Amino acid sequence: MVRAVRGMRDILPQDARMWRHVEGTIQGVIASFAYEEIRLPLLEFTELFARGVGEATDIVEKEMYTLADRDGDSLSLRPEGTASCVRALEENGLLYNQNQRVTYAGPMFRYEKPQKGRYRQFYQIGAEAFGFAGPDVDAELIAIGAECWKALGISKHISLEVNSLGSSEARIAYKEALVAYLSPLKAQLDEDSQRRLLTNPMRILDSKNPATQALLQLAPQLPDFVDAASKAHFQQLLKMLDVLGISYKVNPNLVRGLDYYTHTVFEWVTQDLGAQGAVCAGGRYDGLVKQLGGRDTPAVGFAVGLDRVVLLCELAELEVKQSADLYICVLGDELQSKGMLLARQLRKQMPQISVRLHMGGGNFKKQLKRADASGATWAILYGEEEAASGELSLKHLRDASVGQVKLPVEQIAQRISSKS
Ligand code: HAM
Repeated sequence: MVRAVRGMRDILPQDARMWRHVEGTIQGVIASFAYEEIRLPLLEFTELFARGVGEATDIVEKEMYTLADRDGDSLSLRPEGTASCVRALEENGLLYNQNQRVTYAGPMFRYEKPQKGRYRQFYQIGAEAFGFAGPDVDAELIAIGAECWKALGISKHISLEVNSLGSSEARIAYKEALVAYLSPLKAQLDEDSQRRLLTNPMRILDSKNPATQALLQLAPQLPDFVDAASKAHFQQLLKMLDVLGISYKVNPNLVRGLDYYTHTVFEWVTQDLGAQGAVCAGGRYDGLVKQLGGRDTPAVGFAVGLDRVVLLCELAELEVKQSADLYICVLGDELQSKGMLLARQLRKQMPQISVRLHMGGGNFKKQLKRADASGATWAILYGEEEAASGELSLKHLRDASVGQVKLPVEQIAQRISSKS
């Protein structure tokens, strides 16, 4: 048997209901803020991510699924959605003289070491806003996250961390100061941090290594390098969050693993999923549109990691209510096609209820066993007697007190809706 590729998961029928609930809820919240859907390709030119996400980031350096197209072009499966979103809007002239607030959803691909909450194919729902320079839209995007957790009933498992990286000039000055401080101490850094000192020094702040963290105690601090305008933007954002009643922690070590961020960055984190604590992350990327060849356009967004939110909902033992459904037991070969007509009629009468028709024969006892195992709430018995009398036997499978009654087909819908 050929098996699934490592890090690529199946979402099985018993789990798909929770996925649909989580996706539907988050997309519903984002739509309620009037963000419009954009659908983006899974494959892009590798160059888009190299230039967008950054050559020296872990993602581009070692995590992309890259392949050569037949004509030799280098293509990559998208590791994230922001760069594609910028490309699509710019390519279609949608950033010219207008603002945009868009949302996308779908699988992303990163060749990471798989573990709980970390997969090589994982799912994001993202929201991005273009053309707004003020902190109000940063606050709006954070508020969308807060509304999502509320709507899902998982707010108490998630907290918000925010930081400001300052302008790109401030970041460069800070990076230089950090490298100057850490270079003489290189031998004492963990292996990953030694490599990052050359490629992506700010990511060293993220290191979980205690010795490295100890060295960072006396390192130059990012907030000391952040420019005044960016500080004012950040303070205004924090005030707005206060007004919105959204609690946060300012984490000066929050730097993010993608190169395009400037000013505000944020992460929604949980303690309940071990090392994979970030369930949603984002920030401002005012320089990216220009860097990819467009005009200077302020932009900010986030992406929710759906795999982790689903895990969290399962941990929180969130119950997703299953809509009532109906199993039709049909006796005898002659009635099988009439059973299909009956199912069609009932689906039309009750579009909110799924109707499953028994197939494969057997007596009513065996069919009722199947009905029970299917999880259906109701069963209908349709045999010679019912066909002759025009009255169907309707049985509640989950509540014996409702019992079994005989009814003409026209009254089935009413009975189901009053007793479900
Ligand atoms: P990111 O932090 O790389 O940011 O990913 C966002 C979220 O996707 C993470 O917080 C996490 O929940 C989830 N995620 C990332 N990698 C994996 C994985 N291997 N397995 C499971 N879940 C994962 C971005 O992708 C940016 N594009 C976010 C953004 C949008 N910034 C501005 N706009």
